[in-house]
Amino acid sequence: MSEAVVTEERESLWIVRINRPERRNALGRAVVEGLTDAAARVAEQKAVRAVVLCGAGDRAFCAGADLKERQTMDEDAVRAFVTSLNRMMNAIERSPKVWIAALHGACLGGGLELALSADLRVARSDLVTGLPEVRLGIIPGAGATQRLPRLVGVARAKELILTGARIGADRALQIGVVNRVADDHEAAALELAGEVCKGAPISLRQAKLAVNEGWDLDFEAGLRWERTCYDVTIPTEDRLEGLRAFAEKRPPNYRGE
Ligand code: COA
Repeated sequence: MSEAVVTEERESLWIVRINRPERRNALGRAVVEGLTDAAARVAEQKAVRAVVLCGAGDRAFCAGADLKERQTMDEDAVRAFVTSLNRMMNAIERSPKVWIAALHGACLGGGLELALSADLRVARSDLVTGLPEVRLGIIPGAGATQRLPRLVGVARAKELILTGARIGADRALQIGVVNRVADDHEAAALELAGEVCKGAPISLRQAKLAVNEGWDLDFEAGLRWERTCYDVTIPTEDRLEGLRAFAEKRPPNYRGE
């Protein structure tokens, strides 16, 4: 059997691809393990700045939980699986790298929850996304009831969560579920990643941390948190390299040190 998740590991950028097109990249145990492993491994790579997360095949980024595998699980197994899903998505959200989800075709249920754990989302115009869980007798259980309202506001999040209805790329862009729509979603995600990769690795990590952990603090506490995150960049070699590169009118060569 082919690997459920495949990675292409470049110096400053990884591509992580869910590779079960025959099941529309549904999140079964093997996919969750593969993504958990990729998130852990990329976190260790000093020079890597960004990760593009995408799905194999032409039909779907990810059709959500693997409903066939789910049928074989008893209640305890479902609980354990949902815990592992959350662990994986939290690892992506809290990753020191910038994750960009490249979405196409179906991105449903857990597929959207996975996309929401990334930092940025790019979609192809055939995107069909939504949270059908209430129509399946459950609720979104991998963070969407918490992440989506924070991203798009309570009313828009409730529209998706409580109706279970599917929306297309235009609506997803309009309400802020995705950052941009492009004909070639992977090329657009790589282009965005290229912009991210101009930043220094420690700067990107600290800037993401400043936003992730600071945005819902009160303003003064948020500014103090920003300063805490900033201070980590002061003693770095990359900060000095940035100043040298500016003075020498050349691109900086950041090494994550
Ligand atoms: N879990 C397991 N298998 C899935 C799946 C899922 N979430 N989504 C699709 N598949 C399987 C289908 O059962 C089918 O398998 P088969 O060939 O053995 O019959 C195969 O993937 C292709 O699916 P198909 O529906 O023919 O493909 P499509 O491209 O026309 O449509 C979807 C794709 C994703 C729109 C459609 O399959 C769908 O609505 N899936 C359910 C999505 C869902 O409700 N997810 C939420 C889970 S909380």
